[in-house]
Amino acid sequence: MSQPADLTCEFAGLRLHNPIILASGILGTSAALLERAALSGAGAVTAKSCGPIPRLGHPNPVALDWGGGLINAIGLTNPGAEEEARVLTAARERLHSLGVPLIASVFAGTVEEFSQVAGAVARAHPAAIEVNISCPNVADEFGTPFAATCESAAAATAAVKSATDIPVFVKLAPNVPNIARIATAVEEAGADAITAVNTMPGMVIDAEAGRPVLSNRVGGISGPALKPVALRCVYEIARSVRVPIIGTGGVNDGRDAAEMLMAGATAIGVGSAVWYRGVAVLGQIAGELAGFMKAMGYPDLAALRGKAH
Ligand SMILES: Cc1cc2nc3c(=O)[nH]c(=O)nc-3n(C[C@H](O)[C@H](O)[C@H](O)COP(=O)(O)O)c2cc1C
Repeated sequence: MSQPADLTCEFAGLRLHNPIILASGILGTSAALLERAALSGAGAVTAKSCGPIPRLGHPNPVALDWGGGLINAIGLTNPGAEEEARVLTAARERLHSLGVPLIASVFAGTVEEFSQVAGAVARAHPAAIEVNISCPNVADEFGTPFAATCESAAAATAAVKSATDIPVFVKLAPNVPNIARIATAVEEAGADAITAVNTMPGMVIDAEAGRPVLSNRVGGISGPALKPVALRCVYEIARSVRVPIIGTGGVNDGRDAAEMLMAGATAIGVGSAVWYRGVAVLGQIAGELAGFMKAMGYPDLAALRGKAH
C-alpha cells in the first residue's frame, strides 16, 4: 500500500493515511473483514452498526442492485453491544499495526440505550464512535428516526457524548427538509464530526410478481443514485458547521471522491462501491483521487476542500 504523502490527513483527531473510509455495514463487523478493508488501502474502517441486543435482521431478499444503485433492508443484523465489544477489540488489535483507525457504530431505540450501547462499545477502545441516528430501520418510540428532528438528534448525540471520551461522529439522514439545522443541533450537542449521509428510503417493485422485491418492502437507496443527494447534503452542512464531515453516498471512483471534498467534506465514506468493484476499491479510489489531483494541479487535499462553494 503506497499512498502519496499528500493524501495523509487529520480527521477529528484521527491520523489517516488517506481520507477514504469504509462506510458502516458494508463488510460487517468481523475482525478479518475489517482488516481486509484496511489492507486494501482504506484510511479508516467503520464497523457495522450494533445495538443493545442481538438482532437477526430481515429474511432474504435483503439487498439488490436495481440498476441505478443498490437498495437494502438488512434489518441491522448484529450480535448486541457486549459481544460487539469483544469483536471490536480483536479488530482494533489487528488494525493497530496497520495504522488504520477503527470506527465503531451504534444504534438504539431510546436515548438511554444510546448511552448504554456507546458505553459498552467504548470498552473496545475504538478510535471513534459513529452514532447511527439515521438508519431507515431505527426509530424512537414514536416511530420517527432520531435524525428527523433537531431535538432527538441532539439528545442521541449528547447521550453518547456523556457515555465516552472517544470522538463522536453523528450520521445524518438525507430525507429531512433542512439537514443544515440538524447538523447544527448535533454540533451544539457535542458531535466531533458529522457523517453525511445514510441511505435514502426507497422501494423497488417486481412488475411481473406485482410486489416489492425486498422482504421488508422498503429499504435504503445507496450507490450512484444517492451521489447528487449526498453532495447537496454535504454542501449545505459544510456551510453551517465547523466540525469535519465524512461525505458518504455514491462515491465509486476518485473523481467522485474529489467532488465530495469540493462540496466541503474532509473525508470520504465508501460503501456500495465495494459491492460494485470489490474490497480493493478502497485503496484504488485513494490512488485515483491522487491521480486526479496531480492531473488537475491540486497540491493537497486542503486545496480541494470546499472548492465548489
Ligand atoms: C448493505 C448495506 C448495509 C448498510 N448498513 C449500515 C449500518 O449498519 N449502519 C450505517 O450507519 N449505515 C449502513 N449502511 C449505509 C452506508 O454506510 C452508507 O451510508 C450508504 O450506503 C451510502 O454510501 P454508498 O452510496 O457509498 O453506499 C449500509 C449500506 C448498505 C448498502
